[in-house]
Amino acid sequence: MAKKRIVVMYGGKADEHSISCISAASALRALDTDKFEAIPVGITKDGKWIVNGENPLGWSLDEGLPTVEKTPGVKDVVLEVALGQDGFFAREDDGTLTPFGHVDAVFPVLHGPFGEDGTIQGLFEMMGVPYVGCGVLASAACMDKHYTKVLLAAAGIPVAPGITLDARSFDKASEFKANADAIMAQVSEAGLQYPLFVKPSRAGSSFGVTKVEHEGDAAELAAAVFEASHHDWRILVEQGIDAREIECAVLCPKAGEAPQASWPGEIVLDKRAEGDDQFYDFDSKYMDSAASHVEVPANLPEETLNLVRETAKKAFVAVDGAGLSRVDTFVTKDGKVMVNEINTMPGFTSISMYPKAWEATGVRYTDLITKLIEGVLR
Ligand SMILES: Nc1ncnc2c1ncn2[C@@H]1O[C@H](COP(=O)(O)OP(=O)(O)OP(=O)(O)O)[C@@H](O)[C@H]1O
Ligand SMILES: [Mg+2]
Repeated sequence: MAKKRIVVMYGGKADEHSISCISAASALRALDTDKFEAIPVGITKDGKWIVNGENPLGWSLDEGLPTVEKTPGVKDVVLEVALGQDGFFAREDDGTLTPFGHVDAVFPVLHGPFGEDGTIQGLFEMMGVPYVGCGVLASAACMDKHYTKVLLAAAGIPVAPGITLDARSFDKASEFKANADAIMAQVSEAGLQYPLFVKPSRAGSSFGVTKVEHEGDAAELAAAVFEASHHDWRILVEQGIDAREIECAVLCPKAGEAPQASWPGEIVLDKRAEGDDQFYDFDSKYMDSAASHVEVPANLPEETLNLVRETAKKAFVAVDGAGLSRVDTFVTKDGKVMVNEINTMPGFTSISMYPKAWEATGVRYTDLITKLIEGVLR
């Protein structure tokens, strides 16, 4: 049987550009080349689609952060929407177009806005090209923490108590200080307990997230809301949940079939500076491999692990998930499970939680990728 030809996409306009490059490099190295032929397509930070760039196979986190660049020899990708799976071309220097040939599916290994938020998914829907992962609605809803919570709450899944603010009308010049009392009033009306977490609704990688510690300190709250407003005008103020952060990998290769959940895992911090009360931030998450390790299954009673798995599957269905998602939960001391957020294209390097969780549940990285691709070809 002929190999299936898969466009593997990486990079992109989001802040997670380099993480996507590492995720894709890892996936390309693990891809079953007896079954699939990969066509790597990069997206530069300013959104240009390219082929013939630097070979992602050479990229790894130890070598520093890779980026997709328009170096000499790189060709622009041109799409002919109406041609669908035959609609991918490379533009040569003389302007002529070289077809990729028939593309069986696309695997967008892209994180964040314009990759994980439904926009590129919509493009492939328009073209009629099968793609791995969640569709337009789930991608868009999960990119926006406010709407994720709306859908989850409607399905009866516990989420952190909180309010959503619209910062568009706030007084920017005063850095929101002029609105501080009004924001405080909303917080107390909602009965939110301190500490609070203030975060942009649409962001990722903990960008713009602030822990607000001091009850009654309107300036501290306003500063946190101002900080979040650099990332999105829609801002969540949540009650801080005193809990462990447990992540569960959900797999559903063919949309509509029953999703499966991995053993839940936990990021265990190994290195924490004296007196350091930082929550898991960008650096400890991606940049510092000595800072943490992944533990699957998380050290919790089996009953709790199973509750996380059930909740994760329910959450996946509630947002109309497909393909894959990592459901991030809070597990409190008394074993209650709340969903914090859903990542529809979770970190996908071989040492990321999603593949690690499946490996610990009996699905090897290579087979995981095969299942995901074959699911959209069926
Ligand atoms: N309500 C909350 N209670 C306790 N901790 C919280 C709460 N909200 C956020 N946090 C902490 O802040 C971190 C980042 O928040 P969150 O996961 O919502 O944002 P994010 O930017 O989407 O992060 P990422 O996409 O990288 O996981 C969480 O992992 C958690 O440690
Ligand atoms: Mg998170």
